[in-house]
This record gives sequence, structure tokens and C-alpha cells, in this order.
Amino acid sequence: MALAEPPTPAGPDGAEHGAGPVLRLRREALIHTLDSLSASPALAVLRDRLAALRAALLPGGALRAVPGEEAVSFPEGLLWAELDQIGAALTLDRARYYAERLRKAAQGERTAAINEIDLNRWKAYDDIFTDSLWLIERRDGSGVHRADYWGNFVPQIPNQLMRRYTRRGDWVLDPFAGAGTTLIEGQRLGRNVLGVELQPTLVERVRALVNAEPNRHGSCSHVVVGDSTAADFRALLAEQGAASAQLAVLHPPYHDIIRFSDDPRDLSNAATVDAFLAMLGRVVANVTAVLDTGRYLALVIGDKYSRGEWVPLGFLAMQAVQAHGFMLKSIVVKDINGTAGKRAQKELWRYRALVGGFYVFRHEYVFLFRKR
Ligand SMILES: C[S@@+](CC[C@H](N)C(=O)[O-])C[C@H]1O[C@@H](n2cnc3c(N)ncnc32)[C@H](O)[C@@H]1O
Repeated sequence: MALAEPPTPAGPDGAEHGAGPVLRLRREALIHTLDSLSASPALAVLRDRLAALRAALLPGGALRAVPGEEAVSFPEGLLWAELDQIGAALTLDRARYYAERLRKAAQGERTAAINEIDLNRWKAYDDIFTDSLWLIERRDGSGVHRADYWGNFVPQIPNQLMRRYTRRGDWVLDPFAGAGTTLIEGQRLGRNVLGVELQPTLVERVRALVNAEPNRHGSCSHVVVGDSTAADFRALLAEQGAASAQLAVLHPPYHDIIRFSDDPRDLSNAATVDAFLAMLGRVVANVTAVLDTGRYLALVIGDKYSRGEWVPLGFLAMQAVQAHGFMLKSIVVKDINGTAGKRAQKELWRYRALVGGFYVFRHEYVFLFRKR
């Protein structure tokens, strides 16, 4: 719950998480007060001390830090919620447990090696998904993000992945960079991103977009024209001064459902599903060579429909990644919300589904793998 000093209005990852106003409190005095709360001999005493603590948190109260004083910062709403929880506890043990948890949060950060989520204040990250169903009502259209590249993913996907599986300064590899959503989002979050994309016009466009997006962390967003089935990612990373990658985000074509170019090296031009999977396998092999052990690979893909038959492309692609020794960590189902253009065809698809005995696609997958 405690934020590192100085408090940032945007939260620890530089991403909004709706925590509201932040209170600056005198750290040592707060820890001392929470110690005394935990040492209460009876629940009634603890509640009296809690009332005194609440009063000390009000503007001008004894726990409020003055400018220049060593302070710990708490999102105000979360702090009051924690105090309410202590006050509502029915046993002394439970109340002490909550008080102790708050004390840990006041003491400082506790993070895992692969991200910057402060586990001592995990409740503050209420916008980080932990469920396997991602319902994203509206795409993030802020900054330079654009929805006009048919086949790009919503910025919330790379945002969630990078905040969960990387730290600031880590390197993210995106071998199907497309219109650059991962690069733009990485720049915002202070992650370095290497993107590889087959189409030169797109690469030019991505460069222009990342140049237009503020770079307040001074991170590197580098995109090159290339064929990821044959790319030497180690050499490309080395050119940027990096030895390896800490996260890979793969958003390949969903075989031929959108033809991205006429280039035979484009996975959307693979003659068959097997040929597509073989090409994807080559990309995964190249990625595996530069991804650190214990780090994550995310595969974003959907199924397809061909000659009256549902082809489980997502699961076939999942197995292609597993064949490279990755451990499957999660299968996330994400909703697909049609654009205005697609919505116009909704009725037609509904009719076709009723006639054809199938269901219209409303989901895609985010598969999460860990390199063994
Ligand atoms: C689904 S799109 C990725 C969209 C991207 N995530 C975004 O948000 O803009 C897939 C991209 O992979 C590119 N692509 C296909 N085959 C490729 C290959 N062999 N090497 C590199 N890029 C490739 C396509 O040109 C297309 O832009």
C-alpha cells in the first residue's frame, strides 16, 4: 500500500490505477502508532487507539507529514479501507493481523524479481488482471494509440503483460510489431521494446508514432523491418546494447483471416494451417534463443473458421509453443468487441450462425508461458 517517495500521481508503474488522492504521512510515527495498535491487550482498547489514529490522519493531524519531512505515501481511499477493515474485525487476532499488514506496507516495498508490483500494498493494483477472463469494454485511445490498423490489439493487452512480467528498464521483444502498440505502451511504462515487422511502411509509421509519444522514462523503442522466422534477435538486441529479452509478446496473424501483405514470408500467406504452425514455430525458436530463463512469453491469437469447420488455431499455436519446452502458465480468454464497421455486419453474422449451426467469434486467447 505504501508508495515509494516521491509520490507519483500516476502510480508505481506510471499507469493509472484509480487509487485517488495520496496522503503523505510521517513514516516512523505511523509505524509506532500501528505497533501500539497491534500491542492492544483487548479489542475495545484497539478500537479506541484506532479512533485516535484516524483523528491523527485528518488534515493538520499528528501523522500528516510536512514538506521536507521523511514520509510514506498512501492512496487515501485504500488507507481508509484498511482502517475500516481493522475496525470491523471481530477478533483481536484478526484486527492485529490487518494492523500488521498495514505496518508492512508503511515499512516499504516488497516486489517479485520479475515486476514492480509492491506486494505489501497489492490492493492498490486493482486494475491489474488476475482472472482468466478479460473483458475490455473500450480500447485505450489515449496518446498516439490508434485503432485504424486492422488487426492490432488493444493497448491494454501489452500494458497488462508488461506491468505483470517486467520491470522498468527490461527488454520486451515483439516479433510481429504491426502498428506498434507494444512499442508505444512500453515507452509509456519505461520498458525497452524491440519490434520486428515485415512491412516497411508500417515500420515507418511506428517510428513516427513513438517519436510523437512522450518518453518520460528515456526508454528505447526500436523497430526494424525484418522476417521474424529468420531474424537474429540476439544481434538486433546487441545493437541496442542488450544481451537478452525479459518478455516476449507474440501477436501473429490468425493464419489467413486477415491477409497483411503479399509477402510469402508473411505468416498470413502460409498455404495451410500446418505451414502456418511451422512458420510460427521458427519464430518461437528465434525468440527462445534470447529470452531469459524463468521469463514469460505471451501469445495472443484467435481461432478461425474454414469450410464450415471451427479450426482451433489458438490451441494448435499453444502446442507449437509448448513444443519448444515452455511451461504453460495460463490460458486467458479475452472478449472481442467489434468496431463500428463490424457491428453493422453483426445481424448478418447472427443469421449465418443460425443457418450454419455455429457460434460467432467473440473471444480470442492470451496464452502465458514461462521459459524453463
Ligand atoms: C496481428 S498483427 C500484429 C499487430 C500488433 N500487435 C499491433 O497492435 O499493431 C501481425 C503482424 O505480423 C506481421 N508479420 C507477418 N509475418 C511476419 C514475419 N514473418 N515477420 C515479421 N512480421 C510479420 C504482419 O505484417 C502484421 O503486421
